[in-house]
Amino acid sequence: DNPTPTRLCGTDDVEPGSALLVEIDDLELAVYNVDGQFYVTDDRCTHGPGSLSEGYLDGCVIECDFHNGAFDIRTGEVVAPPCMVPIKTYEVVVENNDVMALL
Ligand code: FES
Repeated sequence: DNPTPTRLCGTDDVEPGSALLVEIDDLELAVYNVDGQFYVTDDRCTHGPGSLSEGYLDGCVIECDFHNGAFDIRTGEVVAPPCMVPIKTYEVVVENNDVMALL
C-alpha cells in the first residue's frame, strides 16, 4: 500500500513556532510549523496522556507539558525522559498552502 497525501490543514492555520491538533479518521496528529517548515507527529505522547500539540515547541523539539519529556519532531526520537518510546512521525508534503501528510 502506498500512502496517499491527506490534507491536514492550511499553512496559515499553524503559526510559526506552534503546533495544531488535527483529528482525521481515527488519528490524532500534531502539525508543527518551524519557521515555515512543517512536521507531523502523533499527538498523544508515548509516555502518557499528554497532548503534544499542547506542549512547548523549541526549535524542532516538542516538550510534553505533562511530565516534560521531549521528542525531536523531525525523527520522533526521544530527547528528554521520562519518555522512552519514540513518537511516530509522518512524511509531510506542502502544496498550494495545504499541509498534507502521508498517512
Ligand atoms: Fe508526556 Fe508523560 S505524558 S511526558
